[in-house]
Amino acid sequence: MHPKMSVKLAGLVLRSPLIVASGVLGSSTRLIKKVSENPSVGAVVTKTVTYNPRPGYENPTAIDLGFGFLNAMGLPNPGYLEYRKELSEIKDLAIPLIVSIGPSNSEEAAEMVKALNDVSDGFELNLSCPHAEKLGLEVGSDPEKVRSIVSSARRCTTKPLFVKISPNVTDVVEIARAAVEAGVDAVTAINTMKSIAIDVNAGKPVLSNVYGGLSGKAIHPIAVRIVYELYEAIKIPIVGCGGVYDWRDAVELILAGATAVQIGSAIVYSRSDLNILNEIEKGIIEYLKDKGFNNVMEIVGLAHTS
Ligand code: SIN
Repeated sequence: MHPKMSVKLAGLVLRSPLIVASGVLGSSTRLIKKVSENPSVGAVVTKTVTYNPRPGYENPTAIDLGFGFLNAMGLPNPGYLEYRKELSEIKDLAIPLIVSIGPSNSEEAAEMVKALNDVSDGFELNLSCPHAEKLGLEVGSDPEKVRSIVSSARRCTTKPLFVKISPNVTDVVEIARAAVEAGVDAVTAINTMKSIAIDVNAGKPVLSNVYGGLSGKAIHPIAVRIVYELYEAIKIPIVGCGGVYDWRDAVELILAGATAVQIGSAIVYSRSDLNILNEIEKGIIEYLKDKGFNNVMEIVGLAHTS
């Protein structure tokens, strides 16, 4: 028998635990539609939109380090009001559409959630971009700011609310607990690691912004550790994110405590070939069959009991 792959996550039912991460393929309505047609995709998270439009940083904005990507795009987006128009063109999506928003304070969070509520199935609060002034990590590293932004978003929607947290803090549990107390439904862990690469020939940093966020293979064990820690500390679902390239990486995060898993860099490495998601799902199914499980939910957090 084929093990059941659908998962319940924060009030949503996903046909698969695989979610396309923010910033990858969720940037245009055409791509979102294409992604939703792949049966291995359970949900898609849009690119992050902010209150005001942002042009993004100058090039170079990304570099492939071989063991992961270092990027600082600068959250380029047309602003939430313009993006609302784009999203309202999407009709009858077969999977939940989670809109990623990057507010810098509680007022912005309220305005954005209210405006985007009817064009989304849920929100992911990006409180973790490691290199944007007054946004992301600058607010997401302060538990009081996290509490105030999450409470404000919570008051404006009954839809599922996720918070994407950063590994660049001393105590991830403290940040996650602040979000839980303020009413978030699930925690996505993790966003990228703040990093720098230096071009030794030019003798200067590679990225125009100097600082960027490291994603991909290199951060996978950090994601596993943080999901594991959160699973022991909080009682709401966790979405694992960080360096999932194959089914083993996905299973590792699920065993650590993730109900679902986001895929980002691996899609970029595969040049947007969505077959990678089918391969990952196939591998998880084989693993479950091999181990005698009937349902992927049965292995969530299992590493804690063995
Ligand atoms: C970017 O747009 O530079 C990356 C976004 C993020 O790290 O959240």
